[in-house]
Amino acid sequence: MKTAQQKISLLLIITLLGLFPVFPSAKVGVGDAVAEPALQTQTAQGADMPGDAVIADSHLAVSYLTLAPGSNEQRLNFSWHTKAKAEERKPLVRIWKQGGEAMEFAGESSENPLRISGMYYHRVTVTGLEADTSYAYQLGNGNGEWSLVYTTKTGNPSSFSFLVCGDPQVIDSVSGAAWAATVTAALARFPDVSFMMGTGDQVENPEKKCFDAFFMPEELSALPFATCVGNHEYAPGSYHAAHYMFNPPNWQTKPAADYWYRYGDALFMVTNCSTGMNTRAVRAHGAFIEQAIAQNPDAKWRILTFHYDVYGQGQSHSRRSGKDYRNLYVPIIDQYGIDAVFNGHDHSYSRSKQMMFSGNPNNSGSVGMQETVFDADGMALNPTGTVYFTLNSASGRKPYGLAPLKEYTAFMNQNRQKNITVVHMTADTFRCVTYEVSVDGELTEIDSYGIRKTR
Ligand SMILES: [Fe+2]
Ligand SMILES: [Fe+2]
Repeated sequence: MKTAQQKISLLLIITLLGLFPVFPSAKVGVGDAVAEPALQTQTAQGADMPGDAVIADSHLAVSYLTLAPGSNEQRLNFSWHTKAKAEERKPLVRIWKQGGEAMEFAGESSENPLRISGMYYHRVTVTGLEADTSYAYQLGNGNGEWSLVYTTKTGNPSSFSFLVCGDPQVIDSVSGAAWAATVTAALARFPDVSFMMGTGDQVENPEKKCFDAFFMPEELSALPFATCVGNHEYAPGSYHAAHYMFNPPNWQTKPAADYWYRYGDALFMVTNCSTGMNTRAVRAHGAFIEQAIAQNPDAKWRILTFHYDVYGQGQSHSRRSGKDYRNLYVPIIDQYGIDAVFNGHDHSYSRSKQMMFSGNPNNSGSVGMQETVFDADGMALNPTGTVYFTLNSASGRKPYGLAPLKEYTAFMNQNRQKNITVVHMTADTFRCVTYEVSVDGELTEIDSYGIRKTR
C-alpha cells in the first residue's frame, strides 16, 4: 500500500511528463555533456518523512532538498543532501523550461558540520533564469545518476510578493505537519509568491529529527526559502552550521553568516545575531550592511531580517534582549536607512510605529516614534525611521504571553494560532499583511501596513 507521499510523487511524475519534455535537449553550461534522464517506468518509493531519503528506482535519492533566492532574481541556489561516495560528490543541477533546452550547472559538496546521518551537503547556483517562467529541474551526482524531476517558477521582479514565516521551531512530525499545513494554505491563497523568508528558529534543535520535520512541506522543492539563524538552531562552536541545511547567497563567513540578495527594487539583508548583541557584533553587522548597500546602490528598498525582536511585545524578551537591540542595533539600522525589519523569537505578533533611536532603550520618551502621514489608501507616505515586525510562529508552537502595550507598539496580537505574513512590493510600494491560519487552512487577516515612497 502506498503512502500519501508515494501517491503524490507518482502524481507529480505523471503531471510532469505531460508538462515537460522527458528528454530535454542538452545545452551544457558547465562541465560534461548532460546524461539522458531515465524517467520511463519507475515506481517512486517515498519514505515517511521528506527528511528521509525519497527513493525511486533508477533515481538519485535526495534529502532536505530546498531552494534559496539567488543573489539576484535571475539566480536560484539549490541545496540537498545524499549519502554520497567520493565519486558521487560532484553536484549538478539540470534545469529547463517547457520546450526549452536544458542548462546544466555544477557546484560543490562538503560534509555537513551538523553531522546529519553522515550525509553530504551539496549546493549549486543556477544563473540566467527568466522572469515569470516555469522550470523543471533534476539534481545529479556527477556519477551518472539523476533525481526525480521537480518544478519551480520564477516571479516578476517589478511587482512581486513573498511570504515571511516566524519561528516554525518544529520538533516532531506533529509540529512539522502544522508547519506544512501553513505553507500549503499560504500558497493556496498566494500561489504566485516569489520566495519565503524565515525569521529564525526554523527548528527546536539543530538535529536530524527536527530538520526532518522542517522539510516536511514538499513545496520547499519549488519555493525558494531565505533562512535565518535563530537561537534554537545555533550550534555552539559552529555559529553558521544551520546554514548548511540551506544555501543562502552571498554568504559571509565573517561576520557570522550574514548574507544578502536582491530582488527587483529591494535589497534583502539577513544578519545572524545568534552570536550575541554587543558593540563588537554591531560593528561587524554594520560593516556587512554597508558593504551590501555599496553593491546595490540603486536598491530603493532595504529590508533587514534577524531573529531577535527589537520592538517586540513578548513578556520577557521585550524587557531583556530587546533592550540590547534597541540600544545597540537600532542606531545602525537608522544609519543605513532600513525601511522594514522582520524579527521572530517572541512567538507573538507586533508591529512598531515608525521608529528611530530614542537614546533610551526603554523608549519611555517620545523621541523614538516618528510622526507619520498616511495617504488616502492608508499607506504611510515617505515615512522617516523604520517599521519593525515581530512575527508569531508559523506552526503555532509555544505561544508566549504579551506584555502590556508598549509605547512603541502600533499593533499587537497573540491568537495562539499558526501565522503567516505576505508582503507585496513594487518600485514605490510595500504592503505587509499578516494572517492567522485556521485548522481547515483558511487565512484571516490580523494586521496590514503599507508604505508608499514617492521620492
Ligand atoms: Fe522561537
Ligand atoms: Fe528564538
